[in-house]
Amino acid sequence: MKVAVTAASGGLGKAVLKHLVEEIGAGNVIAVARSPDRDDAYGIDKRRGDYLSVTELTEAFSDIDTLVMISAPVGDWDRIVMHRNVIEAAKQADVRKVVYTSIVGNGKEQETWYWPTQQVNRQTETDLEESGLDWVIARNGLYLEKDLANIVRAKSAGLYRNIAGDGKCGYITVDELAYATVKLAINDGANRQLFNLIGETLTQARLVELANQVFDMEVRYETISDKENVAELMKHPNIAARGEAVAKC
Ligand SMILES: NC(=O)c1ccc[n+]([C@@H]2O[C@H](COP(=O)([O-])OP(=O)(O)OC[C@H]3O[C@@H](n4cnc5c(N)ncnc54)[C@H](OP(=O)(O)O)[C@@H]3O)[C@@H](O)[C@H]2O)c1
Repeated sequence: MKVAVTAASGGLGKAVLKHLVEEIGAGNVIAVARSPDRDDAYGIDKRRGDYLSVTELTEAFSDIDTLVMISAPVGDWDRIVMHRNVIEAAKQADVRKVVYTSIVGNGKEQETWYWPTQQVNRQTETDLEESGLDWVIARNGLYLEKDLANIVRAKSAGLYRNIAGDGKCGYITVDELAYATVKLAINDGANRQLFNLIGETLTQARLVELANQVFDMEVRYETISDKENVAELMKHPNIAARGEAVAKC
């Protein structure tokens, strides 16, 4: 069984490739990326596949049984169309099954800036369910590493601030997500089902408390408004380069 991974050059893509190679062997794993020659990923077959080109993706998916479709990053482009291109190409290339890495939610996002981002993922879930392909939807929890890194970065200021307040976030590590995604891809028992891939839900105060214990720090947590949070995020050069839409999602 050959399994391909799209957006394979990203953090989640690389982690999925690693676990796939361990599970089914390098000869059965294909990395699909828009710049496939940039990384030397695990010595596996690499194919060009930009989410903007159905033709390129259809070629990249030839002889593929199962596809792991990783959600496109937020940016100045239409992610619904990009995901539809992947689904259309999978159909044209006779792919049998698609595992889609979506995003979690608790149903209370409507009043938040996160809503439009999440709705893209929900639309793709519907598109995939209606595609006629076999599918699995894996709603991913929040990457634990990213927030931990932010908390550690706040060590010198002694203060970690964001908008979450008393809300609980469902965290999970990228490696755990990748492992679960691979199991969902290579086993058919979970087909046509939707999963929330999250660990324990934590408030920010609790997360900071745990980080303080592990990294021997004394960081304090404080809630700030949406506007203040965006201003804070835009101080990071990589977020500023991607624009305010990314800071708001
Ligand atoms: N659960 C969470 O906490 C969380 C956090 C952040 C993001 N996400 C979502 O999860 C996805 C995967 O996360 P990640 O950490 O792997 O993100 P990442 O490291 O930023 O990787 C994004 C990937 O998308 C690829 N990409 C961008 N535009 C593309 C296009 N037009 N055609 C094909 N590929 C394209 C990039 O390719 P290049 O290398 O060529 O740029 C890269 O491989 C993200 O895209 C986002 O939708 C989830």
